Amino acid sequence: MIPHVLVIDDNADLTEDIRELFEDTGARVSVFANPDEAEAFVKTDPYDLALVDVRLPTRSGLAMLPRLRQGSPDGEIIVMTGAASVHSAMEAVRHGVHAYLKKPFDPADLLKLADRALSQVSLRRERRLLSRELARSEALHRAVIDTVGSLIIGVDEQHRVQLWNESAAQITGWRASEAHGRDVCELLLPDGSRGPLHELTSEAQAGASGEARVPVRTRDGEERVVHWHVRPLIPDTAGGPMVLLSGTDLTERLELEARAASSEAMAAMGRLTSALAHEIRNPLNAATLQLELMRRSAAKAGHEGVLRRAEIVTAEIKRLSSLLDDFLGLARPKHFSMEGVNVVEIAEHVHALHEPSAREAGLECRLVVRGEVPRIEADEGRLKQALINLLVNAIEATTGRGTGVELEVGASDDAITLRVLDDGPGLPHGRRVLEAFETTKEGGTGLGLPIVTRIAEMHGGTLVIGPRSDGPGTEAVITLPLEGPAKAMRPLP
Ligand SMILES: Nc1ncnc2c1ncn2[C@@H]1O[C@H](COP(=O)(O)OP(=O)(O)OP(=O)(O)O)[C@@H](O)[C@H]1O
Ligand SMILES: [Mg+2]
Repeated sequence: MIPHVLVIDDNADLTEDIRELFEDTGARVSVFANPDEAEAFVKTDPYDLALVDVRLPTRSGLAMLPRLRQGSPDGEIIVMTGAASVHSAMEAVRHGVHAYLKKPFDPADLLKLADRALSQVSLRRERRLLSRELARSEALHRAVIDTVGSLIIGVDEQHRVQLWNESAAQITGWRASEAHGRDVCELLLPDGSRGPLHELTSEAQAGASGEARVPVRTRDGEERVVHWHVRPLIPDTAGGPMVLLSGTDLTERLELEARAASSEAMAAMGRLTSALAHEIRNPLNAATLQLELMRRSAAKAGHEGVLRRAEIVTAEIKRLSSLLDDFLGLARPKHFSMEGVNVVEIAEHVHALHEPSAREAGLECRLVVRGEVPRIEADEGRLKQALINLLVNAIEATTGRGTGVELEVGASDDAITLRVLDDGPGLPHGRRVLEAFETTKEGGTGLGLPIVTRIAEMHGGTLVIGPRSDGPGTEAVITLPLEGPAKAMRPLP
């Protein structure tokens, strides 16, 4: 780059000598005798080196130094004077000039000084460029880190968070400003567990990379399964992060996989049960028929004992047959008849059916209807079955461990809700109760809730089961859309 030298001096002979001297070195030279003109000029054409005489026609060259600096913040200034004084030398130093040169001077000395000043200028320019480049690359790096979907966390040697990207904030619920400076394990594993994540971080400090699947807890107490890669960073003297943890949130993927596996299992079971049901029903029918004949002849002959046993066997066969129905309920239902139904009547029917057994178990069994509930298109029999499954679960869970159950029917603008509440012990910990065969009951099939889910889905609706929000116990809610299940009905797998 060609250096630009600005000369401000009213001694025309001297300025011409200086011009020649610097033009010989390849520099561009601008000369001014008038300070005002010089000031106006630097606003549009900054200098690299300014040579300023102290005594100028209208004012002191020292007085113009601040303006000159503004015009060219990277430039250097050399002050020249024929009448050196301690005062003006101090003034020049105060303005941070590069040198204070007494006239007359040796041109070689001036060139030497100028050379030093210009190399300072180019160093300063380079530094400014580099720091601009650094800021740009930092902004780019920050933007990349913030746009990736993985959690990216940097920690220092005490495992304290130094870097926390946008995904980490979104997934965990902790903002970067809140996470900064906190122990990463204490933040993500609030039981303070010094488990695999802590070990991986310590190992990374010693230089070894590693990975592990470690569930973390979000700010709301939700658990997310995260696969972590932990690796050392090149330590920097500024005390930045030493270990980088990058995590992929697998929660949704694992749930999808589990759901896919469960519907695959369900479909396979459907095929199996349809075939089995056919084979089992015939002998069951024959057995029931034979039993009925046996019961009649026993009654005729007055064999009370045989009669009682025949009844027990009949009841057991009935149970077996209804178990078969349950299995079939999970397979593609053959008779799915949609008609306009009154959900309140369905709820009343189910309530009337189970209220006596609840009372016998010492439980209060209430039916609550909230507001107007419109008729909907639904399969009455299956809705009854769904409500019975939920109510029986509630009664079974609450017997001896709570005071009552409640069946509640209500409607919003776009859906009907059927709610079964109890004040029992709540759902068993760590069990996926909506999955087939998940049961805590001796003799339970674990098919009750999957069947309810299936029925809700057939109506385009959902089943949600979880802890009650207003106290101890469980709440199961079937939501059925009003806009016509035919439209909302999901295709069956
Ligand atoms: N209201 C409830 N309170 C507490 N736990 C419940 C409740 N409802 C269901 N559960 C739990 O969910 C499990 C699964 O229920 P599901 O109805 O699917 O099967 P099950 O009741 O065990 O068997 P089955 O319905 O064949 O009798 C139950 O074993 C029970 O542990
Ligand atoms: Mg059940």
